[in-house]
Amino acid sequence: MTDTAIIVVAAGSGTRLGRGVPKAFAELAGATILEHALRDLQWVGALIVVVVPTGYEADASVIAARAGIDALVVAGGATRADSVAAGLEAAGDVRFVLVHDAARALTPATPFSRVLCALAEGAGAVVPVLPVVDTVRAVDGTARSGGAEALQSLGAVVERSGLRAMQTPQGFDAALLRRAYAEAGDARAAATDDAQLVQMLGVEVVSVHGDELAFKITTAADADRAEALLAPEGSGVDELRTGIGVDVHAFGGGGPLMLAGLEWEGQGLAGHSDGDAVCHAIVDALLGAAGLGDIGGLVGVDDPQYAGARGEVFVRRALERLGAEGWAPVNVAVQVLGVRPRIGSRREEAQAALSAMLGAPVSVSGTTTDGLGAIGRGEGVQAIATALIRRR
Ligand code: CTP
Ligand code: MG
Repeated sequence: MTDTAIIVVAAGSGTRLGRGVPKAFAELAGATILEHALRDLQWVGALIVVVVPTGYEADASVIAARAGIDALVVAGGATRADSVAAGLEAAGDVRFVLVHDAARALTPATPFSRVLCALAEGAGAVVPVLPVVDTVRAVDGTARSGGAEALQSLGAVVERSGLRAMQTPQGFDAALLRRAYAEAGDARAAATDDAQLVQMLGVEVVSVHGDELAFKITTAADADRAEALLAPEGSGVDELRTGIGVDVHAFGGGGPLMLAGLEWEGQGLAGHSDGDAVCHAIVDALLGAAGLGDIGGLVGVDDPQYAGARGEVFVRRALERLGAEGWAPVNVAVQVLGVRPRIGSRREEAQAALSAMLGAPVSVSGTTTDGLGAIGRGEGVQAIATALIRRR
């Protein structure tokens, strides 16, 4: 037994969306708009009435079940108000009614809570609203012939600070909404929301804060926005991770000095590969961020095929491993500790080489250790890298 009904109107044709199916039955991110709209509505504990185009009742029942909703499904009418009226009739004897557009499929719980609270506190009609952000002007009706498109002359600015854009769910004392519908007469056909019919009775309508996510999916651009927000893995927000890597090589290799993917003057670094501590530190930072171990596990430290291998080879292998798990680098910062080479003299070149290698910005800095320790005595080079990686 519940005293509240939520009427979800989903009987529109979706002309402006232009998907060739009634809008609520168009797919977004792997589910219909109706399914997205119904998900999580069960928490309200209300009777849920879904109003759909004639012939879509069975489909809607399946969709509601998939959304975890026990819904009453009825056929709507030619106008939105006709559909609401059909829902009102099906809702039966309840105390409060919330009317909600299925097209506002991403509406979170907060506007529902605010509307329910206002009703519980005695309001007869409650609408979630948002301030108007754009400058608003009326068209003055004079058509002007233009070039590619018809031009229309504009009238005065309408002061927007006193304006609000209406959203749903709109909440009502059920008896009041029934009376508004019964007495609306000709105004009913043109009504784009329910509160305006209540207002015609001279009854006060109050507002609560709406929500940006409760935008109405009307055009293809709205559908794209909704789809981007609904994309799996954290509502379109990238999953981010950071990692750190350190590597040290002593001078004494027979080959050239390779560091940050560049060849430098002077004695080379020792190592099974080319000893490029910067590249190796980057590899460990990337693998560590993704939780994929370290460079030893990636290539096998003594693998003969990597004898003298360029640092770039390991970076590419690490990027392949990350890519296989959906990870891509966002940026990397490396610091080189050592007496030589002087990083500052070729910083731009090193950054460009590493950025090209990673396909993401890499910054390089250098420092000495004030003469302390093996690095300070010029016995080798140390590199410390941090990596930020992301996945959709
Ligand atoms: N609606 C309805 N019955 C109608 C018309 C509209 O139930 N006869 C519902 C829509 O399904 C939608 C809400 O009212 O959830 C808001 O309407 P709108 O965004 O205009 O949707 P459509 O009418 O489907 O779209 P269009 O106007 O582009 O055809
Ligand atoms: Mg419409």
